[in-house]
Amino acid sequence: MNEFETKALALLKDMTLEEKIGQMNQVSGSVGYIPEHLSTAIRAGRVGSVINEVDPDINAELQRIAKEETRLGIPLLIGRDVIHGFRTIFPIPLGQAATWCKDTIAQSARIAAIEANTVGVNWTFSPMIDIARDPRWGRIAESFGEDPYLCATLSVAMVEGYQSESLSNPTALAACAKHFAGYGASESGRDYNTTNIPENELRNVYLPPFHALSDAQVATFMTSFSDLNGIPASGNTWLTKTLLRDEWGFKGFVVSDWESIKGLTIHGLAEDKRHAAKLAATAQVDMEMVSECYLAYLGDLVENNEVPLATLDTMVSRILTLKFEMGLFDSPRASQPLPQTLPQAHLLAAKNAALKSCVLLKNQDKQLPLRPHNLNNIAVIGPLADDGFEQMGTWVFDGCAEDSVTVLSAIKARVGDDCHVSYQKAMANSRSQALLNEAEILQTAKDADVIVAVLGEEAILSGEAHCRTNIDLPGAQHALINVMSSSGKPVVAVIMAGRPLTLEPVLDKLDAVLYAWHPGTMGGPAIAELLFGVHSPSGKLPVSFPRVVGQIPLYYAQKQTGRPADEESFIHQDDIPERAGQTSLGMTATHLDCHFSALFPFGFGLSYADFHYSDIALSSGEVSKDAPLTVSVTLTNMSDIKADEIVQLYIRDRVGSVTRPVKELKGFQRVTMKPNESRSIHFLITVDDLRFYDINQAFNYEQGDFEVWVGSHSHSGLHGTFKLVE
Ligand code: BGC
Repeated sequence: MNEFETKALALLKDMTLEEKIGQMNQVSGSVGYIPEHLSTAIRAGRVGSVINEVDPDINAELQRIAKEETRLGIPLLIGRDVIHGFRTIFPIPLGQAATWCKDTIAQSARIAAIEANTVGVNWTFSPMIDIARDPRWGRIAESFGEDPYLCATLSVAMVEGYQSESLSNPTALAACAKHFAGYGASESGRDYNTTNIPENELRNVYLPPFHALSDAQVATFMTSFSDLNGIPASGNTWLTKTLLRDEWGFKGFVVSDWESIKGLTIHGLAEDKRHAAKLAATAQVDMEMVSECYLAYLGDLVENNEVPLATLDTMVSRILTLKFEMGLFDSPRASQPLPQTLPQAHLLAAKNAALKSCVLLKNQDKQLPLRPHNLNNIAVIGPLADDGFEQMGTWVFDGCAEDSVTVLSAIKARVGDDCHVSYQKAMANSRSQALLNEAEILQTAKDADVIVAVLGEEAILSGEAHCRTNIDLPGAQHALINVMSSSGKPVVAVIMAGRPLTLEPVLDKLDAVLYAWHPGTMGGPAIAELLFGVHSPSGKLPVSFPRVVGQIPLYYAQKQTGRPADEESFIHQDDIPERAGQTSLGMTATHLDCHFSALFPFGFGLSYADFHYSDIALSSGEVSKDAPLTVSVTLTNMSDIKADEIVQLYIRDRVGSVTRPVKELKGFQRVTMKPNESRSIHFLITVDDLRFYDINQAFNYEQGDFEVWVGSHSHSGLHGTFKLVE
C-alpha cells in the first residue's frame, strides 16, 4: 500500500456512510454561479466531484467550501472535457494521430493541462481510445483511428502529457481512458448503438489501448454508454471488475459516463434506478456522473447488504487516493483567469501539431508546393476558408474562434503585396445545398492562377451523436468542385473534416488534396506553410479511407478469409459478360460494384520529398525468447529538401491457432531526413511483439512463420520472412 492509499484508508475510518457515498457523486456545474443546492450539497458532504465548471473564481470558491465548510475538508475533483486542447486548440485527436508523433501529442496534452489547471480544472475526460473503424461514427474524430498499436502508443504519450511526471505537479491533469469498452463498434456507426464483439476480438483489437493505459497508470477510466454483448458497460461486472481490477490490476478509479448508470434502466438491464445503482456498484463503477442513483439508493443498498460495505469502502478509497496523490488536500491549486492573449509557445506548439497532422493525399504533377513568385492571383474558395470556429472541430468548449488564424488570413499574410488573393465563401456553410453565386465563383476561379479550395465538414458534423450515413463532401460541394474545375485552373483542395470522407467521386477534378482534419487554432498558418513549401507535409493516415460507404468497415488489418480478394479474380459488374454463369465471377471476398481496396490505405501520406526504401536486412532468420531480431532498411531522401518520413513496420503471423490479420503495425519511427540523406533505420522485434490472445484468451506467441514489411504505408514496403522458434 502506498502512502496515499494509507491516508485514504485512515480518512475513510472517520467517514459516515453518507459522506462516503457523497464522494462517489459527481454533479454538474457550468451555470456561471454557485446555485444554493450545490453549495448546500458540498457543505453536507454529498459531492465528490464537479463537472464542467471553468470559471476560476467559482472553482476557487467551490474548493474553499469543500475544504473549509465541510466536516472533513475533502477537496473536489473538477472535471472537464479537455479533448484536444483547452483554450489553445490543437488538431482533433484523429488529426493528432496522423502525426504519428508521441512528442507532439505529449506536448499538446501538457499545454492543455497547464491551461485547464490555471482555471481550477484538475481532471480531463481524455484520451478517448476507442478503436474506430467506421467513419460514419461521429466520434471517430475524437479517436486515434483504427489501429490498436498506434492508438495504444499515442494514448500513452497523451496521458504522460496530461499527468506529467507526477500527479502532484500543480499543472497535472488527471486523465481518463474512455470509453470502456467497445464503443467504437457501435452498429452502423450510429452513436450509442449496440456493440457485439467476440471476446477474442475485444482482447486483440479493442482492449490493447486500455490495457496499455492501465499499465501506464492513467488516473481514471470511464465506462461506455454502449451495450457490450448484452450487458451495458456501466453495469458490466466482467469489464470493470473481473478484467480491469482482477486481471489487469488497475489501481485508479472508474467513473460512469453522463447519466449512464440511470441509462441502465433505459437499456432494459435495470428495473429502476435503485437496481441500476446496485448493478453499477457491483461492477465497481466508483463514481457516478450526474444522474445521482448512488446518492439516492446506495445507502439503502449497503444497509440491506445488497452492496457490501467493504466493496463500497474500496471504491471510495480509490477516489480519495487520487485526491491525496494529486496533493489537493494540501492546496487545492490556484485558480486564476487565463491570460487574454495566448502564450506564443502554446500557439507555436499548436501550429507544429497541425503541420505534422496534415496528410497530402494527392499531388498531381507536383502542383504543390505553390511558388509565390510564379503567382499573381490566388483564389481562395470554400465555406471553411475563413471560419475560425469551424476549423477547431468538435469538443472545444473552451476554445475561442477569435484566437484562430484561418487559411485565408494566413495565405494573405504569407504572400503579402506580391500576389492578389481573392476570396469566395461559395456556400453559406459546409452543408448548404446551394452555391451562393455560381457566376462569381466561376469568374473568381478563371481570374486566378491557382485555386485553393477549403472544403470539408463544419465542426457540428462530427463528434458525439453526430453520425452520417453518407460521408461524401456534404451539401453542394461536389457542384462547387465542378464549377471550380470548369475554370480550367488548377484546384488544390484543403479538406477539413472530422472523419475520412469518400473522395473518389471528386478526386479526378482536384489537382492536389491536403487533408487537414480540423486543425485547431493555428490551422491557417500551418496549412499556408505547407501549401507554400516552408515545410513538407508529413502526416500519415491513422485510418483507411474507403471509396464508398458500402465498403465499411474497411481496415487494413483485416483477416485473410478463405477466399481473399485479388486483382486477378476481381470482376467489376460492368465487365461481367452477358449471361455469365455464377462461377465465371471471381468467387472471392469482393463487392461487384467497387474495387476491394481502400481509396487511401492506412499509413498513407505523400511528401514533397522523394523517399526511397532499399536493402531490407534481418539480423537472423529466427526470433526466440532469448534472441530478438533486428530488421533494418536504408531510407534515402532522393530530393533536395528536408522532410520527415514515418517509417512503418508491419508483420504477419502466417498460421495461428486463431486466424491472424493479414498485416499488423508493430513499429514506426518519424525521422527527419536532410536533403539527399541516406540512413539505416532499425526496428527490434521481440517475441512479446508477436503475442496475441488465443481462443482460450491466453496471451501467447506461437512458433511458426512470419512475414515482415518496412515501408511508407500499410500497402507498401520491403518484405522479409523469419521464424519464431522455441
Ligand atoms: C461523453 C463523454 C464525456 C461526458 C462528459 C458524455 O456525453 O460520452 O465522452 O466525457 O459526456 O461531458
